Amino acid sequence: MNPDLHATAEALDAADPLRPHRDLFVGARTPLVYFDGNSLGRPLAATVGRLERFVRDEWGGRLIRGWDESWMDLPFAIGDEIGRVALGAAPGQTVIGDSTTVMLYKLIRAAFDAQAARDPGRVEIVIGTDDFPTDRYIVEGIAAERGGRVHWIEVDRAEGVTTEQIAGAVGEKTAVVVVSHVAYRSAHLADARGITEVARAAGALTVWDLCHSAGAVPIHADRWGFDIAVGCTYKYLGGGPGSPAFAYVAHRHHETLVQPIPGWMGTADVFSMGPHHAPAAGMRRFLSGTPPILGMLAMEDTLALIGDVGIDAIREKSVELTTFALEVVDEELAPLGVHVASPADAAARGGHVTLGHPLMRQATAALWRHDVIPDYRDPEGLRIGLAPLSTSFTETLTGLLTVRDTLVRLTPTA
Ligand SMILES: Cc1ncc(COP(=O)(O)O)c(C=O)c1O
Repeated sequence: MNPDLHATAEALDAADPLRPHRDLFVGARTPLVYFDGNSLGRPLAATVGRLERFVRDEWGGRLIRGWDESWMDLPFAIGDEIGRVALGAAPGQTVIGDSTTVMLYKLIRAAFDAQAARDPGRVEIVIGTDDFPTDRYIVEGIAAERGGRVHWIEVDRAEGVTTEQIAGAVGEKTAVVVVSHVAYRSAHLADARGITEVARAAGALTVWDLCHSAGAVPIHADRWGFDIAVGCTYKYLGGGPGSPAFAYVAHRHHETLVQPIPGWMGTADVFSMGPHHAPAAGMRRFLSGTPPILGMLAMEDTLALIGDVGIDAIREKSVELTTFALEVVDEELAPLGVHVASPADAAARGGHVTLGHPLMRQATAALWRHDVIPDYRDPEGLRIGLAPLSTSFTETLTGLLTVRDTLVRLTPTA
């Protein structure tokens, strides 16, 4: 092995301005290599105390009074904070709601219906063939439910949707375009501003899936003219397993979008218990039932950290981490037949890299047994997620060398 790689990793760690933040995370001082911060972020130590205090003092102490005192506002307060530190969104446009899947359904359907009401000829939803399953299934479901149809864009699995592809797909029949900012498989970083503009010029609304970009890649939702966006909070935003999604809806669409699950929490006067649903003004109208308060608490600590560090510094380290990882892959794994199924250009890549090899499924199971935790995505893809706030360069090198050794062990000798 190239001894320079160790020296490089150590030098990069020594020069890393984000290095001290790693120690704020639970478990970061153990030898475990965590390559899945793009799927479930590590918790911050501060969150342990926050959750305990909440159960004891707020839930246990305030009981139902907590709703009036602060919990009712939490989906909006935390939503605004996500908007501020991670989305480039002015207040009043971001809320914490249901799961990502449910939020996507509600908002894609609201967008489809608003478009159909404006122009019944707009019946198509544009989406890539390699988009995340939930996004594709929802789009198919809404098309079937509302008499629309899906316009599929054929997408290269090692790449992602390009602006040119979107330009070629949208037209006078397009109602909605659904795109992932960072592709879940390849980490391809879409041109969010360009795609939004192309879709708007064709009269379509765009719904962005920000799951793999929020907290890792700078987003300027307001400046780029986003219509609607939804994203997970348990990846780079530290919300914990199953924490609820955020949704962004630009001010200009609040009055025209009607979401399809009209529950009491989305009404103008929640406790009036009126005979019919009257949608609230602003982001409240996109809520349906009682907000999942416990699931929102953990992200407050991560959001504070992202706010302190700044998303640009996070992105800078993210690029350095993935660039270094690809250097190690080139020197140590490529000779074993490993190929990179992510964009080579750092500017077109999000926060993870995917490595292809026919033995990756078996390798993942073996790696987990050795406390190296990536995840696996068909076909033969090992996803290496490098969360900039909690991952070091030395950890990255150690993990990738373990991938190399595991593949060597698994490779049948002739
Ligand atoms: C890109 C993307 N979209 C949507 C989802 C669905 O999120 P949820 O399972 O929280 O509904 C995920 C989950 O990992 C995802 O990665």
